[in-house]
Amino acid sequence: MNKNICFIDGLEGILKYREVDINELVELPYDAVSYLLIRGELPGEQELAEYSARLHAERGINREVMDVIRMCNLNVDAMEALRTVVSFISQFDPDLNDSSQEGNMRKAIRLIAMVPTIVAAYYRTANGKEPVPPDPSLSHGANFLYMLKGSKPDPLEAEVMEKDFILSAEHELNASTFSSRVTASTLSDLYSAVVSGLCTLKGPLHGGARSEVMNMLEAIACPENAEKFVLEKIEKREKIMGFGHRVYKTYDPRGTIFKQLSRKLAEAKGDMHWYETAETIENAVVCELVEKRGKPIYPNVDFYSGVIYKYMDIPPQLATSIFAIGRISGWIAHCFEQYEKKKIIRPRAFMLDEC
Ligand SMILES: CC(C)(COP(=O)(O)OP(=O)(O)OC[C@H]1O[C@@H](n2cnc3c(N)ncnc32)[C@H](O)[C@@H]1OP(=O)(O)O)[C@@H](O)C(=O)NCCC(=O)NCCS
Repeated sequence: MNKNICFIDGLEGILKYREVDINELVELPYDAVSYLLIRGELPGEQELAEYSARLHAERGINREVMDVIRMCNLNVDAMEALRTVVSFISQFDPDLNDSSQEGNMRKAIRLIAMVPTIVAAYYRTANGKEPVPPDPSLSHGANFLYMLKGSKPDPLEAEVMEKDFILSAEHELNASTFSSRVTASTLSDLYSAVVSGLCTLKGPLHGGARSEVMNMLEAIACPENAEKFVLEKIEKREKIMGFGHRVYKTYDPRGTIFKQLSRKLAEAKGDMHWYETAETIENAVVCELVEKRGKPIYPNVDFYSGVIYKYMDIPPQLATSIFAIGRISGWIAHCFEQYEKKKIIRPRAFMLDEC
């Protein structure tokens, strides 16, 4: 497995997982992209069928896990519950202490398969509804929406969810992947590494930005209010959520695909309201920050994904946990690479000055 997990050209706006461009990846099933990240190569037809079957078989959660979900505070962001529950489920994994490649692969499959079920079960419980068991005939994205809403999703929503998971799956050494890798570098187990990733992803400067984008859209309410909102934020030197990136100094290619998908959803629903509000925000930010002040602040992965969730009636409390469902394959790919190195990550304090 020697292809780089991820390649980013932040000036040209290019993103590849294992040398495959994001625009090609987004046309594949999530399971194939997950396999690519973790195993290093795209699966053949038979390999994909087997991998998907293993994922489908591990989607269920046991009664004890449901008990813990019910004990969680049901009024908080789903990331609070997800972090706790992922930590809890490790004790039921028969491979917990098997750090062989096969043992780690079995844990990886359980984690990737169970995280969507945990998020959906938490959401339904929080809304006074019974959890919906997974449907093995559905794709990763369609099954998640089915478990969340209790009915089979329409094909466009299922496609958008699948692409959302793919676009969120991997992004080199971002903050949450870094913390997962640091945990794995101590040869701690995969559950601990994933919990580290979850804890880091939830911050508003990282994956938490997606729910902040949704709150911002709600606060702005309509395209007519967008420019004033942006100008006031800039005047107060406040950050506009869903914009800017440490690596991209041009359009984030994931953001561009999310924008196309949000337009497709808006048109299909015959409701351009959120799309137009978002586009007006984007135009105002680009005009004020890029064109007038020369700062490379463009929409990032969290901006138009927030718009998509508005159209799919997904509440802000779920936004970061949905990001985590996609990102878990990337975390695991990095942990596997780190396990092979058998070398602890231990930077010196002065290196923080560069962060
Ligand atoms: C992503 C992010 C953390 C990258 O941070 P960074 O590389 O450390 O960049 P900085 O925060 O140092 O910002 C550099 C400059 O751009 C400005 N800037 C960066 N992001 C901005 C935003 N979203 N809105 C307004 N201004 C922004 C900063 O104010 C700063 O201006 P200054 O040089 O005049 O002080 C940052 O862009 C941000 O906070 N974005 C909003 C949160 C978000 O969407 N996060 C998801 C990332 S995928």
